[in-house]
Amino acid sequence: MKPDFTRKLLQWNKNSNTRAMPWKGEKDPYKIWLSEIILQQTRVEQGWSYYEKFIAAFPTIIHLAKAKEEKVFKMWEGLGYYSRCKNLIATARKIASDYKGKFPATYDEIKALPGIGPYTAAAVSSFAFNAPHAVVDGNVQRILARYFGIATPIDTTAGKKEFQTLAQSLLYLDEPSTYNQAIMDFGAVVCKPQNPLCSDCVQNKACEAFKQQTVTQLPVKQKA
Ligand code: ADE
Repeated sequence: MKPDFTRKLLQWNKNSNTRAMPWKGEKDPYKIWLSEIILQQTRVEQGWSYYEKFIAAFPTIIHLAKAKEEKVFKMWEGLGYYSRCKNLIATARKIASDYKGKFPATYDEIKALPGIGPYTAAAVSSFAFNAPHAVVDGNVQRILARYFGIATPIDTTAGKKEFQTLAQSLLYLDEPSTYNQAIMDFGAVVCKPQNPLCSDCVQNKACEAFKQQTVTQLPVKQKA
């Protein structure tokens, strides 16, 4: 039995989600990983053209591993947070040397790569390999805080744990990839930080924040 939240999310995704992005539906773990590293600290609208430039210049991870560092850094210019670029090169070279250029397929192997935390490991392993790991980022925390009316601060150890466990319990195990992309899109299009589209939302009958009119107060952060 799917939770009501999951059922409605998949229903919205199937019937109403028209969001298009170049990495959506992509199955090549290299391309998914590249998009996720870019999107770690960059907005989709800004990251889009960088993603396309990188894929054109380095069509495979071997191309990236063999590239001159200066060339990669030059292409990263404008995105900032240069440790991401350093880790990009380090990971490409590690996969070339330790994995013969074949991207590892498990959550644990992927999480062990430079610059990859729990969110990115869940995203890459689920999008590319349908590994059963729910993505949890600020978008997912916001959606769940509102839907379930949870006031636990998201920036505390207890909060992180609570949202992680809840998110994992809602994952659609038949298609983790579809579910994870759907919840990301839902957070960007419907359950937005500002001006969420509550009156048109398929979840509004069961959404605690909507019912209690606390949507603008959730999620809670300990630090302002
Ligand atoms: N931000 C990070 N990963 C994303 C994805 N796959 N789709 C949309 N936004 C994202």
